[in-house]
Amino acid sequence: MISEQELAELSFADAPKMITGSVPGPKAAEVLAEAREHESMTRGAGGFPLVFDVGKGVTVKDPDGNLYIDVSAGVGVNSVGRSHPRVIKAMEEQSKVLMHGSDCSSTRRGELAKKIASIAPPGLRNDCITYFTQSGSGALECAIKFARTVTGRNQILAFHGAYHGVWAASNALTTGDQYRKGYGPFMGGVIHAPYPYAYRFPLPLGDKSCEEVCGDYVDYLLNTPYTAVDDVAAVIVEPLQGEGGYIPPAPEFFIRVKAACEKHGALFVADEVQAGTGRTGKMWSIEHAGVEPDMITFGKGMGGDLPMAGVIMRKDLAQKLEDGSQPQTFAANSVSAAVAMTNIDIINEYGLVERAGQLGKEVLDRLQAASENLPIIGEVRGRGLMIGIELVKDRQTREPADQDTMMKVVMGLLANGIIMVPCGRNGNVLRLMPSLTITRDYMHKAVDILLDVLADV
Ligand SMILES: Cc1ncc(COP(=O)(O)O)c(C=O)c1O
Repeated sequence: MISEQELAELSFADAPKMITGSVPGPKAAEVLAEAREHESMTRGAGGFPLVFDVGKGVTVKDPDGNLYIDVSAGVGVNSVGRSHPRVIKAMEEQSKVLMHGSDCSSTRRGELAKKIASIAPPGLRNDCITYFTQSGSGALECAIKFARTVTGRNQILAFHGAYHGVWAASNALTTGDQYRKGYGPFMGGVIHAPYPYAYRFPLPLGDKSCEEVCGDYVDYLLNTPYTAVDDVAAVIVEPLQGEGGYIPPAPEFFIRVKAACEKHGALFVADEVQAGTGRTGKMWSIEHAGVEPDMITFGKGMGGDLPMAGVIMRKDLAQKLEDGSQPQTFAANSVSAAVAMTNIDIINEYGLVERAGQLGKEVLDRLQAASENLPIIGEVRGRGLMIGIELVKDRQTREPADQDTMMKVVMGLLANGIIMVPCGRNGNVLRLMPSLTITRDYMHKAVDILLDVLADV
């Protein structure tokens, strides 16, 4: 496993270091004002007052020279940190030879598909076909169509709290008022079932776990007459729900869902866009459940500094799709492919998957212990370096922290040099999803600052 010293050299030293009294500083404020003039604020962070100027490893500088520790990794993207020297070298070398080919075979693209097959989870490993896209939304869009085509069926079952992207079809699966309001009507044939979010489950569980209840409910929906859920092509599920609040269900849920899919004849699709590529302490988060997916969607951490996403599917399913039927002009750009392969090599050679599991457990334990003295923390949960901290107004009632409080926390973190992005159905979950290359020192420094900020609100 890579040493802490080697990891430290990938980032700027002595972060965080704030120069301006407040954020944004004067130069960042200028950029933000210009952006409002020329760019749509429908983007992910809207008008959030952070401006990226320089990135190195897990550290980021803004135009005023403030130095931050980024525990959001560009929303789960920079699995090996920003501008890793080996990634830069791969980009430089590949860009001299070939960047854009065409939507046909190229050397790097072929190598990447083979490498992805070699790291795919059991059931797909070295026996799968990859289809490339440029974004997670695009991957989901195509997974939906592929599932419909190969099964000859129509409906898609997704879950409450799900986020699968914001394109025409994927937005139909995505929940969350802010992503849906005014943008419908969406693709028809989508059913949403409860996700096992035990902390806020609205119904009594009896003597079963939340996972068992939700898994059994999927079986009921799929395999009982008169539920109108009778034509399901695929169940699409995040093995660890991301935008919906960093919720890591126990294996029972997925085992039941998979069995229900098999009974019904539906495909089991694991959306690994956020939780994949080593983040949770396994290369793919579905591996924690021991369930074999029929398809996987990937994105974010696979490409890291350059966009790379797609669908990994069983070979027999891929063989049912028409050649040439789904072109993507920019798919698997050769530089992006070279970068993705370098990412995978770094993750494996540095032992980052195992390390994510170990460091994540250490941080989870620390936060859970600290939460005993911080009534604002309702629950700390997660797996590997995908940790959610749910903030509440009142621990007894579990009333979610309001948006003013969340803003105070996020801005308090930013003012102290920590970049953290909230998520959750009520926007009240802080998430730790740093690059897998974060040093223990920076990780704990970020947690120190977080605990101080939480003690102050
Ligand atoms: C689980 C999941 N699926 C799909 C997407 C969509 O990915 P993209 O933003 O690259 O379109 C996301 C993005 O956050 C995600 O978390």
